Amino acid sequence: MTANAPLQRDQMEAFWMPFTANRQFKANPRMLAKAAGMHYWTPEGRQILDAVAGLWCVNAGHGRKEISEAVSKQIATMEYAPPFQMGHPTAFQLANDVASWLPPDMGHVFFTNSGSESVDTALKIALAYHRARGEASRTRFIGRERGYHGVGFGGISVGGMVNNRKWFGSMLPGVDHLPHTHDLAKNAYTRGMPEHGANLADELERIVALHDASNIAAVIVEPVAGSTGVLIPPQGYLERLRSICTRHGILLIFDEVITGFGRLGAPFGTSFFGVQPDMITMAKGLTNGAVPMGAVAASDQIYHTFMQGPEGAIELFHGYTYSAHPVACAAGIATQEIYRKEGLFARANDMAPYWADGVHSLQGLPHVIDLRNLGLIGAVELEPIPGKPGLRGYNTFVRAFEQGLLVRVTGDIIAMSPPLIIEKSHIDQVFGILGGVLKELG
Ligand SMILES: Cc1ncc(COP(=O)(O)O)c(C=O)c1O
Repeated sequence: MTANAPLQRDQMEAFWMPFTANRQFKANPRMLAKAAGMHYWTPEGRQILDAVAGLWCVNAGHGRKEISEAVSKQIATMEYAPPFQMGHPTAFQLANDVASWLPPDMGHVFFTNSGSESVDTALKIALAYHRARGEASRTRFIGRERGYHGVGFGGISVGGMVNNRKWFGSMLPGVDHLPHTHDLAKNAYTRGMPEHGANLADELERIVALHDASNIAAVIVEPVAGSTGVLIPPQGYLERLRSICTRHGILLIFDEVITGFGRLGAPFGTSFFGVQPDMITMAKGLTNGAVPMGAVAASDQIYHTFMQGPEGAIELFHGYTYSAHPVACAAGIATQEIYRKEGLFARANDMAPYWADGVHSLQGLPHVIDLRNLGLIGAVELEPIPGKPGLRGYNTFVRAFEQGLLVRVTGDIIAMSPPLIIEKSHIDQVFGILGGVLKELG
């Protein structure tokens, strides 16, 4: 089996692919072999424009030498160090770098290896925090319909995507879901944040009234729901959630796995929306996707609640063999340095209006029923083929790939989130190709 030779079907059975129609894929594979800047290349050498930053993670663009050099150096110097009762300087440096993007009283960073682990970590911190404060009855969580919080049992319990939940039994007990905020009848074709729907946050009051606040630990939402097909929060919605949580002593967790590290043209969603949660989960852009890593940032209030009692006591019985892995930390530090030096978050903000024009240029094309954008995120919602939900989206995705464009598809929604280094000429290309595909398949 050589690196770029086409694989035979029987060579493809060993790898059970995640979130993939394995048989369909293996009958007609779409392979990637190389990446640089805004592009991937297939093993045959075909260039593919990356309109999704890999999977919402390669925010600084592909093939960054600064990252690969930092990673090689770290592997050669010290490939691994145990994170329990031991430390290494790069972990502290990266935590400080991450904290520098966050509100000043949110600077305590717990490292994980993925977004899913970050979510489960944040849920556990929420439970332990209330217990440490003498409110151990606060054990319930509130997520949201159509939310995606990864694939751990905590994450699928608070998540709201039916296929990610229905196969896996009863999950965590004591979870309620807010209604999702997607309202095509009122908000279709909105540029930026939709006008209608802030009142949906008031459903939280109903859930609190049902269970009593003394039983509720935390609410978790994505500021912008990504994996479910890009649902932009209605104006005023996140503020309302914040004020209801505060009123009832409920922690608010923002899952910023996709909105972190500049996606909206600000360091994090919290700065973009001006709404501060108690914890932030992150991953993806933390290392530019180069090495798996996630993190949870917690407020001073949460952190200091744990930092009590005998000095020799372990404050939180939680962690991973690979928490703050030195190689991931090296990648993370190099990534943060690129973001800072190149001003990529501000660049994303400058590019956002041109991106928005590109997204909305698709209005009126066959079967398009909504277009959405915020920062460097865009979505095209297509009318499902009757009786075959998801097929139109899938066909669009495949045809776009054949035409040299990588997008992401969720059901009949095409989602896009390009590297923040994108140029106007790439934006023209993204919407040129996608528009052409929509017309062709029309
Ligand atoms: C909001 C959100 N949370 C959690 C996750 C899970 O992250 P991971 O796939 O790294 O476990 C994702 C992944 O897309 C995500 O978008």
